[in-house]
Amino acid sequence: MGDEGILVKVKDLVKIYKYKGGEVQALRGVTASFPSGKVTCVMGPSGSGKTTLLNLIGGIDIPTGGEIFVGDVKVDELSSDALDEFRLKYVGFIFQALNLVPTLTALENVELPLMISGAKGKEARKKALHLLDVVGIKDKASRYPEELSGGEQQRVAIAIALANNPPVILADEPTAELDSVNALNIVKLLVKLAKELGKTIILATHDPRVAVKVDRILRIEDGKITGEFRPIDLERGATPPESSGLPQVKLSELIKMRLSIVEEEMNDLETRFRSGEIGVEEFHNKLTKLKAMQEALKDLLTSLGTS
Ligand SMILES: Nc1ncnc2c1ncn2[C@@H]1O[C@H](COP(=O)(O)OP(=O)(O)OP(=O)(O)O)[C@@H](O)[C@H]1O
Ligand SMILES: [Mg+2]
Repeated sequence: MGDEGILVKVKDLVKIYKYKGGEVQALRGVTASFPSGKVTCVMGPSGSGKTTLLNLIGGIDIPTGGEIFVGDVKVDELSSDALDEFRLKYVGFIFQALNLVPTLTALENVELPLMISGAKGKEARKKALHLLDVVGIKDKASRYPEELSGGEQQRVAIAIALANNPPVILADEPTAELDSVNALNIVKLLVKLAKELGKTIILATHDPRVAVKVDRILRIEDGKITGEFRPIDLERGATPPESSGLPQVKLSELIKMRLSIVEEEMNDLETRFRSGEIGVEEFHNKLTKLKAMQEALKDLLTSLGTS
């Protein structure tokens, strides 16, 4: 293990999204802490603020009010440049929509973030292979994402999140597209990584089957933390929060349009990267932002009950 690990804390966190015609209070004063060495699951219904909370902790988005501490870093006070650096050093993201570049092999996908943070060819390869070993798919290093199962792709995504050895891993519905067996395996892997590597792992889900395997569960409802469970409580039959979509229709059309624009931009970006027009760093930065946007839009759609 070696390192001490990092404590993540949020205090009175508020997030208000403004959009044309209204605003949504996504977080209404969230106070919570997340210890290292453990997977804390944030569980709650669609639209309750899980993704928002993760995005704020990970510096993808900025809070309307309140404080965020990641170890000694006060994330809510960072400038936009400092946030870029913070994300690179401190946070590994695992999204439901997989982080993988389809035109790169599993190994190359893991090498990408290593090279961005300065690892040279051979060293990057060696580290990437090691990471694929850690997540149990070293033997499939030369496969392309589409040649891997959903569970295997998610393992590659975890290897990528681990690449720069960040102390914090944020996983937003990382098992949503997996069957139960694969979903449980991924969660077990995360619990093991938290324990063995001393990572602070925060996992958002509304799936109680996933939640029972983690170390700790925080329940979030309507932008507020409403309870803390031990997984065993859930197994004993305490009622988990249920999904409830908010029926709003027209907004969803707008979101779908935004989503298709984001997807076009992603294709475009990839074309420019492959043709050599832009470098690997720019490609990765922009792709990360587009993916975050795509994820937020998809979540929004899900929360509206129209995905
Ligand atoms: N970019 C945005 N603009 C406007 N409203 C947003 C935005 N992102 C999220 N929201 C709203 O904020 C609230 C919380 O959304 P969030 O995505 O955090 O929920 P969630 O718990 O992750 O839901 P899900 O389980 O569906 O992923 C919802 O009401 C959602 O509609
Ligand atoms: Mg979400």
